Amino acid sequence: MPSDQFREKLHREFLDFFDNAEQNRRWNPLRDIPWERVNPETPESLALCAETFLGVEGFLPDYISGGLQVFRNASVAQRWFVANWGYEELKHSMALQLYLIRSGKRTEEQMADYQAELMKERWEPPFSTARRITIYGVFQEMATFVIYLRQEKAAKKVGDEALAAVYRMNARDEVAHARFYELVVRAYLEEDRDNTIADIAYVAANFKMPGVGIVPDYDARIAVMRDAGQIDRDLFLQKIYLPTLRRLGVERSEITRVISEQRKAERAARRSAEMMSRAEPAE
Ligand SMILES: [Fe+2]
Ligand SMILES: [Fe+2]
Repeated sequence: MPSDQFREKLHREFLDFFDNAEQNRRWNPLRDIPWERVNPETPESLALCAETFLGVEGFLPDYISGGLQVFRNASVAQRWFVANWGYEELKHSMALQLYLIRSGKRTEEQMADYQAELMKERWEPPFSTARRITIYGVFQEMATFVIYLRQEKAAKKVGDEALAAVYRMNARDEVAHARFYELVVRAYLEEDRDNTIADIAYVAANFKMPGVGIVPDYDARIAVMRDAGQIDRDLFLQKIYLPTLRRLGVERSEITRVISEQRKAERAARRSAEMMSRAEPAE
């Protein structure tokens, strides 16, 4: 169980995060995107990207229920964060869907069918502890941030200022989410440095984007989107994992040490269990 100190620290961090969001980051997809500046000539490939990211964002009900479940007994701040996070994430779906309809790339009916199709699958949390999900949150939000910045650039290149603004607003929220999760990981490091470091290594080794396998035709979409939608191992390392370690003040050598010490301890525990079972008299 987290200490009182941990809970109090996170409480302060959440109030700061919330205050900053209210003061500087609140936006409205209906009003704050220059919809009149949609470029009707924007290629279908960018619409396909928008539709795919809408698919990933579309599992919001599962993210919220999964998140609340995992963080239920962690701390008040972490529960409140999920609620606030859900509201902010909702706008990402709204903005992408509004773009697809207002640009004429998709009809309302197509969007309704797509949303219904999405809900035939279910997202399950990839990890079961609050600490691992928090670490996953840092990586996942950073990955989404990197992807959205690339999309913003692509939209600008074809002169679609509306689509560029959708990605810019979404990306600004994603990086704020990544930073909050990072503060929480910092607090976990203060609580229990070695086990948090082991979790960082574990989550990084098992990382995949949340849409994999549940957004319809995900692999086919990614193949068409190529660089635009993919977070390959190299990109993950260079743009997400290593910068996160730097910001957290964790050296790669420290990770190696923790992992090898844990493996050694596991081997020793196994050996002594074997010896105990051999020492027991046969019935
Ligand atoms: Fe999002
Ligand atoms: Fe986010």
